[in-house]
Amino acid sequence: MSGLAVIHGRLGAALADAAAQVEATLERLLPKGEDAQARLYEAMRYATLGGGKRIRAFLVLETARLFNVARRAALRAAAAVEMLHAYSLVHDDLPAMDDDDFRRGKPSTHRAFDEATAILAGDALQSLAFEVLADDDTHSDPAVRALLVHSLAQAAGARGMAGGQMLDLLAQEQTLNEHEVTRLQLLKTGRLITWCCEAGAVLAKAPRPQFLALSHYGRDLGLAFQIADDILDATGTREEIGKTPGKDEAAGKATLVSLMGLERARAHMRFLADQAIGHLDSFDERADLLRELVEFVISRRM
Ligand code: IPE
Ligand code: IPE
Ligand code: MG
Ligand code: MG
Ligand code: MG
Repeated sequence: MSGLAVIHGRLGAALADAAAQVEATLERLLPKGEDAQARLYEAMRYATLGGGKRIRAFLVLETARLFNVARRAALRAAAAVEMLHAYSLVHDDLPAMDDDDFRRGKPSTHRAFDEATAILAGDALQSLAFEVLADDDTHSDPAVRALLVHSLAQAAGARGMAGGQMLDLLAQEQTLNEHEVTRLQLLKTGRLITWCCEAGAVLAKAPRPQFLALSHYGRDLGLAFQIADDILDATGTREEIGKTPGKDEAAGKATLVSLMGLERARAHMRFLADQAIGHLDSFDERADLLRELVEFVISRRM
């Protein structure tokens, strides 16, 4: 979180503010205590608290702000998706997957604890995310809560993040073309980021055209986000990205960087960024931070 302080201007302040607020919400929602499962609680907190750019949380909060959604409701949805995301990172880093020893500038959860505990922490974080969304504190309308739960389940599941992770593992053995890599990235990263952008409209029961505009913004932003992640894997330092660089090439992973080279991947990312910003045309200056976020996502070194 401290890294966000280096981003200047209004967006930097807004990101830092969102991160602090979601941190406080997560702190309250994550289990703690001295009972027999205390080690599991500790691992869940280790994986979730005190790190990450909180971009998914920011997207929930900012899209909710467009429609004046109660801050408390938006913060709960933001915390839920950060839990789900933290789970995906814990499992992504396991030896059976990317085998990564560092995450968010510290040892990854299976290194700080052990593999079995990391698996369980991921499992329990995923369950807690849905528990938080389904709680009446998140929204007074049960239909809205059901829609949040249903859509996040789809975004995280076999036709979403988990499915994308499967394709990502298979991509080490197969040669994928640009179209196939895009589909993989749409699933493993794009679906969750899209959910975040839709969440504000869902919480507000916004009209369909506004929901769709934000959904399309999320899709293009998510794709650009993963290309930026792949560029950082190829060009970043461990200090910058808080994780081990060079992992994709070492694992023989097909990414748009490996297929297109850095320059074409950058140009494609720019194209997606412009397209994402274009989807916000029907929103006034209240969407300016969402527009600025796109620029941050593609120029970030973190
Ligand atoms: C990393 O996501 C995993 C990807 C989907 C590329 P982030 O770059 O958002 O990770 P944190 O939350 O800031 O650590
Ligand atoms: C991660 O993609 C996507 C997830 C669903 C967690 P990566 O494997 O590229 O993410 P990093 O680079 O480890 O954060
Ligand atoms: Mg991975
Ligand atoms: Mg990884
Ligand atoms: Mg990566």
